[in-house]
Amino acid sequence: MKSLICGASMAALVLALAAVAQTNAAADDPASVEVVMKKLFAGKTSPNNTLKAAAKAPSPDWAKVKEASDAFSKYAPDLGKNDAPKGDKASWDKLCKALADSASSLKDSVDKKDVDGFKAVAKTIGSSCKDCHDAHRPE
Ligand code: HEC
Repeated sequence: MKSLICGASMAALVLALAAVAQTNAAADDPASVEVVMKKLFAGKTSPNNTLKAAAKAPSPDWAKVKEASDAFSKYAPDLGKNDAPKGDKASWDKLCKALADSASSLKDSVDKKDVDGFKAVAKTIGSSCKDCHDAHRPE
């Protein structure tokens, strides 16, 4: 009898662990293309607009830029984990990687408070839209 109860509780434990594993997998799901675009690029107060404004200022507000950079570090790498909504996979992978690489250069420039590096990467990100939208944004 004892071993039966033990077996049953083991089974319950295994089920519970499986449930936890599944919840974690859901939490780790990459953000969708739409969510990445909204979080980084949509609206006046978007991280991208923060970068644009800071790149024009004589000296960037590093605290604000860091917030924007953190958003890029969080969301940019997820973009390429999605399938291309439209267009060629190799092109999509390349453009997504370019954005993820920009996010890590952005982080480096912010960590070093490197104004020139920051301005260059803000410009790269700000001008990345058209190529990707032309090739991969559905009508
Ligand atoms: C590497 C590819 C890529 C880059 C770079 C990119 N986008 Fe996008 N963007 C997309 C795709 C794909 C969609 C369409 C998503 C869909 O509808 O499935 C989109 C959609 C959007 C949307 C609409 C989101 C919504 O509400 O559905 C906005 C706004 C947007 N992009 C802004 C920008 C801006 C601004 C930039 C540049 C500063 C940019 N994007 C750079 C791929 C990209």
